[in-house]
Amino acid sequence: MTGRERLGRHGQAAAESRELPTGHTGQTPMGPDTSQPPAAPTRRNFFLWLTAGLSAVAAVVVGIPFIGYLVGARKRRTDLWVTLGSVSEFPREETRLKTFSNPLRQPWDGMAANTGVYVRNLGKDEKQKDQFLVFAVNCAHLGCPVTWFPQSGLFMCPCHGGVYYADGSHASGPPPRGLFKCVWQVVDGKLQIRPPHYPTLQDPLSPDDTAEG
Ligand code: FES
Repeated sequence: MTGRERLGRHGQAAAESRELPTGHTGQTPMGPDTSQPPAAPTRRNFFLWLTAGLSAVAAVVVGIPFIGYLVGARKRRTDLWVTLGSVSEFPREETRLKTFSNPLRQPWDGMAANTGVYVRNLGKDEKQKDQFLVFAVNCAHLGCPVTWFPQSGLFMCPCHGGVYYADGSHASGPPPRGLFKCVWQVVDGKLQIRPPHYPTLQDPLSPDDTAEG
C-alpha cells in the first residue's frame, strides 16, 4: 500500500468518525449527562431557598399593614362622628384633653387606637352658637403628642421643643405650622368630631385647616 493510499484511508476514517454520533466513537459525551440521577440539594442551596422563603414571609408581614393603611386612607369614612360629651363638660376658655377609642382603628393598632384631642370652648358667637377649637394631639413637626400647660397657656412638644399658643398657632420651635384642627359639630347639646387620622402637612384633618403661624 502506497503512502497516498494510507493517507486516503486515514482521512476517510477521520471523516467517518466526525459524522458518527459521539456514542458510537467511544468518546466522552460533551453535553449534560441525563442518564445520571439528579444531584441531591446541597447545603448551600438549602440555605439559599431558606433565606428567600424567610425574606418573602417578612415582606408579606411588613407589607400587609402598609397596604392596609393605604387602602384605609383611600376608603376613609366620612360619615362617622365621635361624641366627646355634652357642651357643658367643657368650661369656657379652658382647654381639656378628651380621650376616646378611634373608630378608624385597624386590627393591628392595639393600644394606639386609644387617642385623644384637646378641646377649647370659645363660648357662643353672635348667633348664640357654641364655638370650639378641637386640636389633634400630634405635633405638626413629627407627630409627637403635645402637652397642654394651663399655667403658661401653651402646648409644648417633648420631642424637639415645639411650642404652640392656646389657639393652636405656632409659637416657636421646628413645627412648620400650628396644631391640626379637627372637624366638629354640636348636635343636641353634644360635641362631636370627625374621627382623626394621623395628620400630616399634605393630609390635614380638615380641608379648611391651612398652615398658620
Ligand atoms: S415632633 Fe414636636 S417639635 Fe418635633
